[in-house]
Amino acid sequence: MIRFSGATPSGRVHLGNYLGAIQHWADRAEYDGDLYFVSDLHAMTKRYSPAQLRVLTRELHATLIASGIPADRIFVQSDLLAEHASLSWILECVCTFGEARRMTQFKEKSKGENGVRLGLLTYPTLMAADILLHGAQEVPVGDDQRQHVELARSLARRFNTEYGEVFTVPRAVTPPVGARIMDLAEPSRKMAKSSAEAVGTIFLRDEPEIIERKISRAVTDSSGIVRYAPEEQPGVTNLVDILATIRRENPRELAESITGYAELKRMVTDAVLDRLRPIRKTVEELLADQAELDRLRANAAELAAERARPRLHAAMQLAGIG
Ligand code: AMP
Ligand code: TRP
Repeated sequence: MIRFSGATPSGRVHLGNYLGAIQHWADRAEYDGDLYFVSDLHAMTKRYSPAQLRVLTRELHATLIASGIPADRIFVQSDLLAEHASLSWILECVCTFGEARRMTQFKEKSKGENGVRLGLLTYPTLMAADILLHGAQEVPVGDDQRQHVELARSLARRFNTEYGEVFTVPRAVTPPVGARIMDLAEPSRKMAKSSAEAVGTIFLRDEPEIIERKISRAVTDSSGIVRYAPEEQPGVTNLVDILATIRRENPRELAESITGYAELKRMVTDAVLDRLRPIRKTVEELLADQAELDRLRANAAELAAERARPRLHAAMQLAGIG
């Protein structure tokens, strides 16, 4: 079984990334053929700071290692630029313009924007290339990425039919709870790294006091009763979701066992701090030792490239190039 997924270093890593994705990647009893990566090429689809991209890439790489994923299973996408970009081009010539234009994320991110980069439109084909290059069978992602995995499925099938069987048809797997962690201050929207107001976003490297304050100020409601009710009580439900995901418990049952908002917030604070403490410590240690982080990165890149190249070459042969 090959599980494969990536996270984009377009901002600081937050609790939504961790609970929606990273925790599940780190939860494997056996890593088998699993592979995870820092999708730095995906962080270039709109104007960005190159210096900051480098910093965020290192931070995310260190975070994935610190979260418990074996270091030799985490590569940085641009270390395999030739492989990913080559397959991306091949798939751009398989994907239709209509398919790319219909992607919800493209429509949302390009709406009202001037100077939308072509990369924003073609980004799902790069993502399909990531997935297909590494022979992924299961792709664990949050809700927002399911459509892109569907596109990867379509492109794999189309290539296999038109040129010859080479790609595994992947499927998206979504974690049962915590698939969507909401902003603490504005529980109607997703916790995101781009949130201008960081009051509702818990960053993994936030100081414990900051985390405590953000949770204590999390928006609830006036009913005073802890219930799992996403529509009526989005703030409380989000806090229950956070706790349930960390504890790997059923959120509805958990909600019933908690008596009031003060108790709920205390429990969430303790659970988040306990979980993040060792991760934060390891991240700081790794970031302080650049040489070690570089060594781990080069090693993982070599392993991933060795695994991927035969598939790329087979696809090139079938496509009549190279
Ligand atoms: P990104 O860093 O935005 O590429 O996201 C990395 C992973 O985290 C993807 O699988 C996303 O779906 C997931 N993710 C991002 N934000 C959230 C959120 N607020 N709740 C749950 N999962 C999230
Ligand atoms: N696009 C994904 C995100 O923004 C990250 C990503 C890039 C990815 N390539 C991938 C996820 C391949 C899974 C598989 O979250």
